[in-house]
Amino acid sequence: MGLATPDTRHLRDTKYSTVYEPAEDTYLLLDALENDQSTLHSNPPTICVEIGSGSGCVSAFLGQLLHPTHALILSIDINAAATEATKETTLKTNCSTAFEQCRTRFVQSMFDRLAGGVDVLLFNPPYVVTPSEEIDVSAEASAWAGGVDGREVLDLLLPMVPRLLSPGGRFYLVVIEQNKPLDIIRQLAKHGVVGERVLERRAGIEHLSILRFIKSTI
Ligand SMILES: C[S@@+](CC[C@H](N)C(=O)[O-])C[C@H]1O[C@@H](n2cnc3c(N)ncnc32)[C@H](O)[C@@H]1O
Repeated sequence: MGLATPDTRHLRDTKYSTVYEPAEDTYLLLDALENDQSTLHSNPPTICVEIGSGSGCVSAFLGQLLHPTHALILSIDINAAATEATKETTLKTNCSTAFEQCRTRFVQSMFDRLAGGVDVLLFNPPYVVTPSEEIDVSAEASAWAGGVDGREVLDLLLPMVPRLLSPGGRFYLVVIEQNKPLDIIRQLAKHGVVGERVLERRAGIEHLSILRFIKSTI
């Protein structure tokens, strides 16, 4: 039997009106994580980071999936309402995982402390192709507006990925075809982070994929 999707009904509260509601992209990421459950249990992560946690659905799901191991999941978002929503979602889980939330841009001030220590990194970025000016114009836009090729926000994180991951660390990323997934795979491969498309699904006009990257252990 599959794991339950975390309860995010509190998003109906108007204080969460700017928070991205779980959608097909969110669920595809949950499916990719669930497919890897046995691997994640046989080699349990200690530190997991989700960038752009939104509702907290993915962080909470990963927490449930890792139970009964003792991981820390740090959920980051630039939207304060999202970090609040994430806190509420993760509090509703009943698992051994420790959850922390932080409102910041990417990992900003924590980069040096996290470098080389992130066992699982997750990002469902704002990936929609938009004019660059639409990025971050509002909390809502920050959830989806990705600028040129839908890559402008993601491209700020990519150079940090090889340095953040621990040896054998995993990075799960949501993309659409316009984001040029093969280019992302090629770019990270140059830095010893090997990626592949592990899941794909059509959702309306979007062709969603999950790319999974693993940092080499040598
Ligand atoms: C597509 S939503 C994904 C939300 C959630 N992870 C999910 O899968 O349903 C993208 C999220 O990233 C956040 N975000 C955008 N740019 C960010 C950045 N530079 N640093 C941290 N969070 C960011 C947005 O506020 C939004 O909550």
